[in-house]
Amino acid sequence: MLSYRHAFHAGNHADALKHLALVDALSYMTRKDKPILYADTHAGAGSYSLGEGYAAQNREWADGIARIREAATGPGTPPAVAAYLAAVDSWRARSGLADAYPGSPALAASILGRGDRAALFELHPADHEALAALFAGDRRVRVLKADGPASIAALLPPPSRRGLILVDPSYELASDYDDAVACVAAALSRFETGTVIIWYPILDRAEARALPGRLQALSSRPRLHARLELRELLPGERGMAGSGLLVFNPPWPLEASLRAALPWLARALGGPAGAPGTGSRWSLASG
Ligand SMILES: C[S@@+](CC[C@H](N)C(=O)[O-])C[C@H]1O[C@@H](n2cnc3c(N)ncnc32)[C@H](O)[C@@H]1O
Repeated sequence: MLSYRHAFHAGNHADALKHLALVDALSYMTRKDKPILYADTHAGAGSYSLGEGYAAQNREWADGIARIREAATGPGTPPAVAAYLAAVDSWRARSGLADAYPGSPALAASILGRGDRAALFELHPADHEALAALFAGDRRVRVLKADGPASIAALLPPPSRRGLILVDPSYELASDYDDAVACVAAALSRFETGTVIIWYPILDRAEARALPGRLQALSSRPRLHARLELRELLPGERGMAGSGLLVFNPPWPLEASLRAALPWLARALGGPAGAPGTGSRWSLASG
């Protein structure tokens, strides 16, 4: 059942979108004195090496962070893009590995302060083991080999009433879509004011098309909906044409950060407009 390995996708366009938003939101939230809880319901292995193993097989990062890095050498790089690249570089320096790519747990842990806490859920035995080893000496971080969507409610609300929950499923199975909706519903019902970021793929699959609407119907709390479509989704195709994020209770600077970053990312990561199936689009809605 757990055949998905995030290393195949590390640093791709989807990681870039979600990690840029995560870095921006956490950087703002950790500026205040009160501690926060960061919970990652689908944590992965924590950090990846882009030059070897699964990540080197399909080289998805070449059309993700590598294109972003190249485009960022020009003028006009949005601050949120620059901050995302700086966070990746700082992880590389800390880990001593020039081709390391930090997953959401590593990015979060490098932003969290001494009083903050993290809870990282990962079910895959090998990725759980890697994650546990990565954070073995970090007393702020709990690594749990448990079902994230089923377990998140028990951690909420955090004592400080401040927290960010990242919901980043692999969407391998049709049931992952229902679990994602149930996870966000549980998190917001226990912690109505918590920041919840959920990532979803843009795919020609009924469950994927329905997911953003199902998520938006869950809560009337303030939210942002960002979409980055790198090419037109053609009927019957199997690949991912882009991805989106729903953010409930977004920290207020995130909207401006995404408004500046999304058109830039669409240009840096998308194909040329014109031919069928090409051309990139972005959107950002608040509600
Ligand atoms: C998309 S990856 C996570 C990537 C990570 N959040 C990042 O940004 O670096 C999804 C991960 O969820 C794990 N997973 C799948 N179902 C799970 C569940 N019910 N509870 C916890 N982890 C799960 C998979 O093994 C996989 O490693």
